[in-house]
Amino acid sequence: MKSTAPQRFVSGRTLLPALLGIGVLAVLALPLLGDPGAEAKEPLRAGSVCEAHELRALQAENPGLEIEIPPEFDQQFPSWQACLSHEAAWDEEAPGPNQPIPFSHAHHAGLYEIACNYCHGGTERSQAAQVPSVELCMGCHEHFPASYDELEGIRILKQYWEEREPIPWVQIHRVPEHVQFRHNRHVAAGVDCTRCHGNVAEMEKVYLVPDRVWWQYGLPAEKLEMGWCIQCHRENEASQDCFACHY
Ligand code: HEC
Ligand code: HEC
Ligand code: HEC
Ligand code: HEC
Ligand code: HEC
Repeated sequence: MKSTAPQRFVSGRTLLPALLGIGVLAVLALPLLGDPGAEAKEPLRAGSVCEAHELRALQAENPGLEIEIPPEFDQQFPSWQACLSHEAAWDEEAPGPNQPIPFSHAHHAGLYEIACNYCHGGTERSQAAQVPSVELCMGCHEHFPASYDELEGIRILKQYWEEREPIPWVQIHRVPEHVQFRHNRHVAAGVDCTRCHGNVAEMEKVYLVPDRVWWQYGLPAEKLEMGWCIQCHRENEASQDCFACHY
């Protein structure tokens, strides 16, 4: 059930990109093209809160545009920004894997300034950074109005919650088993998350930001390779002892 759920939603998603930008005009104006004389005054009708935001923005640009917002969709939330981030987090064109839920860091950590360690508490306490549990997400989302259910990501989140199943987030940064990486040592030493992960607070969808450093004898080392770790340790007088990282 779980693994098929995102798939099922994927098909619906193909409609949404068309609603963004000028696409919305083309799609919603289709009926008008058929019979321009008779139906030209037919207003564009919103079918969701997100579409209502979209239409209001279009009308602001084209004051002549007739729009109709049914009362059930005439709401503030989800905000338009939430609709856009939700869309962008599942953008197939953007780098990085599509996660089981279109969760946006730009929205949560950027716009709403939720602290990194609220969700990744392990970075201070332990070796692993940890990804948040369904419970942690629901700690906020349980209290959100039902109108949020129009977002597929929220529906999927609630499905995991009801079935008491963990969300199978795709891990992006990973070192092999024989390597000991400890977040807490780095966080305690004041190495910022962005040094190793890029500016996650601006990402709608997380990806591995490439980084290349050079060994002192001129060979390149890519992010997460041994030379990448060692060169920073060299610059910061941190341990280069084999047994610091391998044991
Ligand atoms: C501290 C509170 C908080 C927590 C914890 C939280 N959210 Fe949110 N979430 C929000 C707020 C606030 C919004 C935006 C509301 C708006 O702008 O309309 C939001 C929006 C969203 C959206 C729509 C925008 C987007 O990012 O796609 C999704 C989906 C979402 N949250 C999923 C999650 C998931 C999954 C988790 C757990 C990993 C989570 N949230 C944890 C507060 C929270
Ligand atoms: C509301 C909860 C929440 C907040 C706040 C949050 N994250 Fe995340 N983070 C997640 C979730 C859920 C995932 C897994 C899905 C994904 O990659 O988007 C994740 C994944 C990541 C990853 C990728 C891990 C991997 O698999 O390699 C990094 C790096 C990361 N977060 C860094 C940050 C940083 C830095 C901040 C603060 C600027 C932050 N996160 C704030 C929930 C959160
Ligand atoms: C010195 C580089 C470095 C710094 C600084 C760093 N990370 Fe990481 N991060 C890594 C590496 C390497 C991995 C892969 C670890 C592994 O495979 O065990 C990782 C993995 C992660 C993961 C995935 C964990 C999982 O279990 O899926 C998250 C989330 C994460 N980091 C968040 C953060 C946050 C938040 C910060 C800042 C508080 C941070 N990182 C700072 C290098 C770093
Ligand atoms: C951006 C710089 C940077 C990168 C990249 C980096 N580190 Fe570090 N690392 C540090 C600093 C600074 C310390 C020193 C912490 C201290 O003094 O306690 C440290 C400490 C450590 C320690 C503890 C050393 C000890 O004395 O026990 C380990 C283990 C470690 N790093 C592993 C890694 C691994 C594995 C990687 C690559 C996957 C890595 N680090 C990448 C900056 C970095
Ligand atoms: C700062 C951390 C760090 C230190 C210190 C370190 N390594 Fe590594 N090592 C790594 C990481 C990360 C990898 C995995 C990525 C890779 O293969 O480049 C790795 C991989 C390896 C591998 C496997 C390469 C392969 O192709 O699978 C060997 C062998 C190795 N290290 C030996 C050593 C020896 C010998 C020393 C001491 C001279 C040492 N390492 C010191 C981080 C470190």
